[in-house]
Amino acid sequence: MTWTGKDICVRIIDKNDARIRDVISSRIPGVRFVEHSDSAGGLNILLSFRPPEDEPLSAYDWVHSAGAGVDHLCKAIADPDAAPVITRTTGRMGQQIGEYCLAYGLAHLQKMSARQALASDCNWDKAAASPRYGFDTQVSIFGTGSIGSGIARAFKAIGAAVIGYSKSGSPARHFDAVRPLSEFSEHLPPDILVLALPETPETSGLVDETVLTCLQGALLINVGRGATLQPEALRDAFASGRIAHAVLDVFETEPLPPDDWRWRHPQVTVTPHVSGLTLPDDAANALCDLLENYLQTGERPQSVDVRRGY
Ligand code: GLV
Repeated sequence: MTWTGKDICVRIIDKNDARIRDVISSRIPGVRFVEHSDSAGGLNILLSFRPPEDEPLSAYDWVHSAGAGVDHLCKAIADPDAAPVITRTTGRMGQQIGEYCLAYGLAHLQKMSARQALASDCNWDKAAASPRYGFDTQVSIFGTGSIGSGIARAFKAIGAAVIGYSKSGSPARHFDAVRPLSEFSEHLPPDILVLALPETPETSGLVDETVLTCLQGALLINVGRGATLQPEALRDAFASGRIAHAVLDVFETEPLPPDDWRWRHPQVTVTPHVSGLTLPDDAANALCDLLENYLQTGERPQSVDVRRGY
């Protein structure tokens, strides 16, 4: 398929499809909205977070993820050499997830639940209610892409020292330093560890007993993907005091089944994958930015690497 840009068909699978359609139509008036890929069309685009149930992704030239993660899409591609172009929506996700992490980070440092419990017992225990401060806090973030960087920015605002860990250890915005993931155990343990990694064959099960053994009573926050964190290693880390509390927004299986121990564990806060909700305008504008650039330059957008998974 050559991309002429003359006839652009877009299929949208999203609960906010009407709003997304409005934004696209106002920015790129010629676009035709379709219910299925159109084999007679010039350029077939799918905008969705998950693969459709009724068509293979290979029916499209370009698949735009209505979210930051592309793991669901990459897993559905049988032949990476024949994959469509895959792009994603980062939008304001760094800011959104940064606010989520900072909210739970501050609740932890300010001992919000301990104070609530003291107050309900009319207990004036100053020591137990005393906070810790951002300027005395070290935060480590696994993942230094736009989301990790947004989280770093949020914690820098309270004066925390923020260290990023990534595969390469290359410098990234808003971090005081970035190190290779393989060096995590060589450094002082952080007070707060945030996981913001995509799901790839390499990150699956990465946060295991070896990683968690390095911690000393940390707050752990997972806003990346559930598969990164080994649940049994997490349970052991509570028993040994390595983790004081875990805030988990993502799970290997979602929704988290009602009989899962994490719902009831006193040191776990479960949230239903809400730390970074893609905003419909962000999904539509991300696609339009790429599409406008393509129409102006004729250059195909940079695709995510399907084999790598991000
Ligand atoms: C949500 O998890 C996303 O990938 O956008």
